[in-house]
Amino acid sequence: MAEKIPIAADHAGYEMKARLVAHLQSLGFEVEDHGTNSPASTDYADYAHPVAEEVSSGAVKRGVLLCGTGLGMSYAANRHAHVRAAVVWTPEIAELSRRHNDANVLVLPSRFLSESDAEKILDTWLNTPFEGGRHVPRVEKIELKEGSE
Ligand code: RB5
Repeated sequence: MAEKIPIAADHAGYEMKARLVAHLQSLGFEVEDHGTNSPASTDYADYAHPVAEEVSSGAVKRGVLLCGTGLGMSYAANRHAHVRAAVVWTPEIAELSRRHNDANVLVLPSRFLSESDAEKILDTWLNTPFEGGRHVPRVEKIELKEGSE
């Protein structure tokens, strides 16, 4: 069965999202597109939360978000338990976000990337495993304990 990958963007990222949706489909993924699909102004959190919720609940393994800087989307996604949303702007950072941080949401700053660079970053991110080992306790310590907020 094809892996389902949810993806969403605000108005700053929707064009790049369209290209990445096609790319993911060409790779055989089932893509769940949470919008937006027009240049009309939107609020990034409305798009980040549904994707982050699916990752947080374990319904999917990973997701993809886009906004102008990547920042607003990452702030919103990282409010969800077990979500590690990484803003990534080079393939090297994509690789490290997986190897060291076990990132499970890729956040792309659409206003600062070409579409072909975004595709390269996505490919690297999808294909890089978590290294485990010394990174396991570090990643575990990210999560807040019950009642510690
Ligand atoms: C939208 O203009 C822009 O603020 C948004 O895409 C994002 O960069 C926010 O973090």
